[in-house]
Amino acid sequence: MQMPKDTIFSLEKKPLPPFEFNEQVVRVFDDMIERSVPLYRETLRRQAELATYFYQQGSRIYDLGCSNGNFGMVLLQSMGARSFEMCAIDNSAPMIDAYRKRLAPLRGGERIRPLEADIQKVVLENPSVVILNLTLQFLPPQERDALMGKIHSALSSGGVLLMTEKIIHGAAELSSLQQRFYYDFKRENGYSELEISQKREALENVLIPETVEDHCDRLRRVGFRKIDLWLKWFNFASFLAVKG
Ligand SMILES: C[S@@+](CC[C@H](N)C(=O)[O-])C[C@H]1O[C@@H](n2cnc3c(N)ncnc32)[C@H](O)[C@@H]1O
Repeated sequence: MQMPKDTIFSLEKKPLPPFEFNEQVVRVFDDMIERSVPLYRETLRRQAELATYFYQQGSRIYDLGCSNGNFGMVLLQSMGARSFEMCAIDNSAPMIDAYRKRLAPLRGGERIRPLEADIQKVVLENPSVVILNLTLQFLPPQERDALMGKIHSALSSGGVLLMTEKIIHGAAELSSLQQRFYYDFKRENGYSELEISQKREALENVLIPETVEDHCDRLRRVGFRKIDLWLKWFNFASFLAVKG
């Protein structure tokens, strides 16, 4: 099936509203994320394999900020017939609606339960795997430690946190180098200068990226000792952190 093309920022918007995960975004989400996040599919695929490896029978997987379920789809393939339970949480009603519609016809789809909720408020019950993809960046920075602390305390021993984030570099020169390659990537994927600049402006103060060091410091601060930056592409980074 042809996915609808993301043309949200193709015409000039005045005023330009802050970015949100509304129905308009949900409709074009797959096209938007694939053209905006380098190595998106590769990351999900390897994370699904990691989740399959770290999952402890009888426990739960949580996908926090699950959107319309792209991780869940790959996880179903990776798990095959194995039994598991995943709670997939997002506070965007149209995202959860799209996820449920997608799961309904799938054999074995009942192993995943999409839930409309705030990840900052949910209680995590017995997780051995927590996924946090491109979502921590949308929380106010001063509230990030609390979520990460909650994840670390809830994880079972040997459990894993898999996290991807858009990042910045601490050195201004390298930060602009990353930006340059990132905007080239968007151009290569068909986004115009207007689309790139309007999206950047709409995300200002909505998506607040941190450095790799900030993320590693936080992971250590909340208790993780085994941390790996397993994938990095300029201003995108994927981490895994195992609870000892
Ligand atoms: C960039 S998308 C995540 C992409 C998704 N993880 C994937 O891999 O396809 C960020 C998601 O986080 C959700 N989100 C942001 N803040 C949230 C919160 N406090 N609670 C629940 N979901 C949240 C948004 O609704 C959005 O669907």
